[in-house]
Amino acid sequence: MADKIIVAPSLLAADLGRLTEAIELIEASCAAWIHFDVMDGIFVPNLTFGPRLVAALRPLSKKFFDVHLMLVEPERYIEDFFKAGADGLTLHWEALSEAVVCLKRIKALGLKAGISIVPSTPVRLLSDILPIVDLVLVMTVNPGFAGQKLIPDCLIKIEELAELRQKMGYNYILEVDGGINLTNYYHVLARGADVVVMGNGFFKSPNPLEVAKAIVAWTKDGRGKDV
Ligand code: DX5
Ligand code: ZN
Repeated sequence: MADKIIVAPSLLAADLGRLTEAIELIEASCAAWIHFDVMDGIFVPNLTFGPRLVAALRPLSKKFFDVHLMLVEPERYIEDFFKAGADGLTLHWEALSEAVVCLKRIKALGLKAGISIVPSTPVRLLSDILPIVDLVLVMTVNPGFAGQKLIPDCLIKIEELAELRQKMGYNYILEVDGGINLTNYYHVLARGADVVVMGNGFFKSPNPLEVAKAIVAWTKDGRGKDV
């Protein structure tokens, strides 16, 4: 469980021709993580970046590089992203046959090991993984593209995972990704999320710094402050 709320702007929604400016914007904000959406055109119908981009941006920021792999056979790329400077690697449960083995490999490299589930995958399928994983990423859209609408039916999974964590004494960070913006972020946080991924909600906002600030300042009692 994280000590305070973490915002993770997703570079997928940034102007890809001006990525260094996107990093500068995140650097100036109170967002503690930077989210990289790695897609292979097979697990999801879109292609994005690979380890070379992570390595190229690494010298520009000391923030946590949160790498979300939407790939088939993600285990083939664990070492490449480690060498590129990722701090955390999150793999999709749906893409893995040996999830526990892969996650242990990531942990052995000293990275945070995360597991992610798409909207149609129930939490109960993660039962053997939850005791060993550092992070669980709940997708609130079908992965592939930034700018989609959050699917409200997925929110219950955040609650389930927060309850299980408490009941069983698990240690994972709870991250939520897809369609989160200033009109709905507190629904995610009130259910127990620690990390909020934001693509369009951050980069397409007229005031991204204030967006990040509002989310980090959220409290259970005060409901946070909209901007
Ligand atoms: C979707 C990605 C998300 C996406 C978030 O497949 O995993 O990280 O970039 O972007 P928004 O916040 O615009 O939905
Ligand atoms: Zn993502």
